[in-house]
Amino acid sequence: MITNTELEYKGNLYPNQIVDFSQDVDKLYFTSENGVVLQITVLRNSALRFRYATEYNFEPDFSYAISEKGIRGYDKLVVSETKTEYLLETIRMKILVDKKTMRIQISDPEGNIINEDEIGFHWEENYEYGGNTVKMSKITQTGESFYGLGDKAMHSNLKGKRVSNWVTDQYAYGKDQDPLYKAVPFYVGLTENKAYGIFFDNTFKTHFDFAHERRNTTSFWADGGEMNYYFIYGPDVSKVVRLYTDLTGKPELPPLWALGFQQSKWSYFPESNVKEIAKKFRDLNIPCDAIYLDIDYMDGFRCFTWDKTKFPDPKRMISELEEDGFKTVVMIDPGIKVDRDYWVYQEAMENDYFCKRGDGPYMNGKVWPGKCNFPDFTNPEVRQWWAELYKEFMTELGVHAVWNDMNEPAVMEVPSKTAPLDTRHYYEGNPTTHRKAHNIYGMQMVRATYNGVKKHSYPKRPFVITRAAYSGTQRYACTWTGDNVATWEHLWLANVQMQRMCMSGYSFVGSDIGGFAEQPNGELFARWIQLGIFHPFCRVHSSGDHGDQEPWSFDSGVTDVVRKFIELRYQLLPYLYTMFYEYSNNGIAMLKSLVMFDQEDPQTHFRTDEFIFGHQILVCPIQEPNAQGRRMYVPRGNWYNFWTDELIKGGREMWVDADIDSIPLFVKEGAMIPKYPVQQYVGEKDIDQLRIEVYYKNGIENSTVYEDGQDGYDYTKGRYSLRNFKLQGKPAQLSIQQYKDGTFVTDYETIEFKFHGLSFEIGGIEIDSEKVSLEDVKYGEDLSIQVSKNFTVLRVLGK
Ligand code: NOJ
Repeated sequence: MITNTELEYKGNLYPNQIVDFSQDVDKLYFTSENGVVLQITVLRNSALRFRYATEYNFEPDFSYAISEKGIRGYDKLVVSETKTEYLLETIRMKILVDKKTMRIQISDPEGNIINEDEIGFHWEENYEYGGNTVKMSKITQTGESFYGLGDKAMHSNLKGKRVSNWVTDQYAYGKDQDPLYKAVPFYVGLTENKAYGIFFDNTFKTHFDFAHERRNTTSFWADGGEMNYYFIYGPDVSKVVRLYTDLTGKPELPPLWALGFQQSKWSYFPESNVKEIAKKFRDLNIPCDAIYLDIDYMDGFRCFTWDKTKFPDPKRMISELEEDGFKTVVMIDPGIKVDRDYWVYQEAMENDYFCKRGDGPYMNGKVWPGKCNFPDFTNPEVRQWWAELYKEFMTELGVHAVWNDMNEPAVMEVPSKTAPLDTRHYYEGNPTTHRKAHNIYGMQMVRATYNGVKKHSYPKRPFVITRAAYSGTQRYACTWTGDNVATWEHLWLANVQMQRMCMSGYSFVGSDIGGFAEQPNGELFARWIQLGIFHPFCRVHSSGDHGDQEPWSFDSGVTDVVRKFIELRYQLLPYLYTMFYEYSNNGIAMLKSLVMFDQEDPQTHFRTDEFIFGHQILVCPIQEPNAQGRRMYVPRGNWYNFWTDELIKGGREMWVDADIDSIPLFVKEGAMIPKYPVQQYVGEKDIDQLRIEVYYKNGIENSTVYEDGQDGYDYTKGRYSLRNFKLQGKPAQLSIQQYKDGTFVTDYETIEFKFHGLSFEIGGIEIDSEKVSLEDVKYGEDLSIQVSKNFTVLRVLGK
């Protein structure tokens, strides 16, 4: 136990005796004798907000992270007090506030402690910059595990680690290197089967220590701003993530093509090269939906311009590519070349849109075009201007999507790799310096981009990608994990990074498949594709200076493997799209680490390799050369080997075969996995039948298939098709009930069910209580039947 004297000695200040309490509906105020005010806001039965003011002063209440659309409301709030503490009760939590120290203890309604302050809130005055270094320390429970925190290239369980959040251009980062490109100050703690989340909504550089410095202490602190954190109680990890995602926002559905395979390189140019790449995909029958133009399409790296020698007629090129099923995605960076003859620069200068330093001069930084100035995206007027810059691209030229890069912002040739800390920002009318605005700079850039692309793509849906992010950026853009390296270790990292991002509310994420820096060999590339097709964003990208990284750049064996897996992704599109629907509607993580899938099983708490794609497919990548399979942990329950249909019992480690053309892949028993036919790009074919792979289970399992117009906004008016299936298997019978929601009419009329693992021979079929002949449902030897899509109950009976 740390004593107060020790704290004083270390220069820390901390609240003392509470002398005042008041309540204003959902807000409770506790004031200490030495001027600390704790404000607790009850947001939901399982979500609270804690804010601490020093010297009685709260900062203006403003957050870039919190979504306006988040659900608020609770059923009960009762406050009582004893001699020593205040007690707050919701129907899910009990919160004690200690009168002497202001320390907090949170327990479930039964009184089991979920989270407890150690010193609790304390602070140090910052004499250099003013304000405080604000700190919080909690007691680490025995056996507690920690997850989340956005993009950290390290083991998924953060116990014993100390990390920081400061968005950083980290070229060719290594394992355990920190910080990277994103700042997501949110973590999940899990102890005694109870999970909670803490979101420290502070945009200064933040730090988290998970029992690293002191074994029994978890602490977090920030270089400035306020101690302002949200507490979410599960007890399920998945619920914590869901509520955090609701709090910081969910993205709208992307166009379906954005979930197709994407090919990128720094850079494809000139036009003939782009065309050649596109043609090769079609010639080799490798599905692909998008091709990326990196910085070299620009005229001298000036954003919103074209190098007309490389791309003489972008509009024609884009439309020709589109005829062949390719969408064109272009890069836009934040740095605007200092050039008096360049219209974007002129407009920004005329309107005073560039960031300035503390004493007045413009903030200059070197990026690709040389000396640049940087728009202050924390000013809504600047964002609006920026959004309009996309008009020509989207409406005239037909550009389909935009990726924002270098938006940390990255600055070259300076040790800090970014803007100087005295750079000033408008910050929505709360002027501040880069110390506070740095972590949200890229987020505000991509927010402006999103608004522009959305407006000017209408009635199509926007698709925007960002490299830098702060909590909440998932509302605007897809993201990738920056400049990784073509090594086996990075394949391992990519797997952990994607899972961690999904656990941090940011599911639309992918890695540069194959590695950005250096050159993969064919085997590594094939293995990475096998993993990458299970990531929400599936794109090959590379720095291009070490050779080619297209599916055909290795030997023909590799090309065949790559084709096979990209085809599998296209078949699984309705499953993936349904995952996105669940994410977008309900905040459900698209990939689930095993701990999120089955936290009751302690084996899952330290697993990194295996994950659940959606909620019914188990994936475990091969992460070593020359492997013919691997040992992996199969979580509890029964699983079908995807390749062989063999049914295995989980809850154990086992060897799984996976030669170079395979990856360990399992389907949960009872799952109904929807598939489309292989297409070379989304929309190539009319879907004349939905195929559903049905994995028999003696018991019940629910599955969903979400479909809509694949683009546009009709779905927001109810024109979607949501099929909820309840599968119920018995020893000699299988029934599937369908509840349909939405008014979208799918093109196909029939669903083909293909049965796996049936425990009996099919003798009869009943549809909505009527017997139908096996010929009528085209019962085939491969154990498939075709049924009109609008059935309510399908019964498959044994002989
Ligand atoms: C850095 C990005 O991370 C990378 O993807 C891109 O190719 C280069 N910048 C060049 O634009």
